[in-house]
Amino acid sequence: MLLKEKRAVITGAAQGLGKALVERLLAEGCQVLAGDMQETQLGETAAELKSRYPGRTLLTARCDVTQEPEVKALVDQAQKTFGGIDIFIANAGILISGPLTEFDVGKWRKVIEVNLVGQMLCMKHALKVMDAAGAGSYIQINSKSGKKGSFKNSAYAASKFGAIGLVQSAALEMAEKKIRVNAICPGNLLDSPLWKDSLFKQYAQNQGITEAAVRQKYIDQVPMKRPCAYEDVCNVMVFLASDLSSYMTGQAINVTGGQEMR
Ligand SMILES: NC(=O)c1ccc[n+]([C@@H]2O[C@H](COP(=O)([O-])OP(=O)(O)OC[C@H]3O[C@@H](n4cnc5c(N)ncnc54)[C@H](O)[C@@H]3O)[C@@H](O)[C@H]2O)c1
Repeated sequence: MLLKEKRAVITGAAQGLGKALVERLLAEGCQVLAGDMQETQLGETAAELKSRYPGRTLLTARCDVTQEPEVKALVDQAQKTFGGIDIFIANAGILISGPLTEFDVGKWRKVIEVNLVGQMLCMKHALKVMDAAGAGSYIQINSKSGKKGSFKNSAYAASKFGAIGLVQSAALEMAEKKIRVNAICPGNLLDSPLWKDSLFKQYAQNQGITEAAVRQKYIDQVPMKRPCAYEDVCNVMVFLASDLSSYMTGQAINVTGGQEMR
């Protein structure tokens, strides 16, 4: 247990990757405060994880990362109940795809609001608490689309590129204070609800191919010939959260099976 007794806060924790990250934080011995805007789903997830990890601390809170008072309240709750934050995982994110020439600007702004402004708000409040304590590891969940343009996916790629700029800038501001700020850039988690409930449909429509063809296309892009798995991302999260990465800050780590080389 590399993170025993550490105090962790995570956003977008109700489902998908966020849920897997919460589970791994609990398995590593952390006390966890999990936020999400889907309160019912978050409650169900927490109940399931608590039954699997009896005796561990898992608290939940409503938190829409685009609403500054809700982000501040999440951070305040961690401060009040845990006495501080050692690890903050900024995982909440959305994806709306579409051709740029047809893109509704309201939807484009929504993606920027969650994936970029939301990241700024989480940093603003979490880093203030870490700054006061003189320690902490802030981890942003980014994407391979934060480093490489993404077909008919301009809003998402722009938001994720911008978020890496935030990570590097925050890392510079925090470097001398022993607070590290890094990002993880996962490849395609093809078995996640994001893909199963939404992306296969969106991409099939946008690209004029079947959903099965979309899946195969994204596997074919990966030199290691398999989708990204939650565990691949969780392993890097533990590394970045722990002292094993104590000389790393401002980095955006690819977890893609080599896909960014294609
Ligand atoms: N699924 C993938 O293939 C993939 C690949 C690379 C990166 N990512 C990134 O991983 C993160 C998690 O993605 P996922 O696949 O689990 O998606 P998901 O849609 O399954 O889960 C996202 C979670 O974020 C929450 N959320 C959305 N908007 C929010 C807001 N404004 N405030 C608070 N919570 C909000 C949702 O309620 C949901 O619980 C995202 O940042 C995403 O960009 C995902």
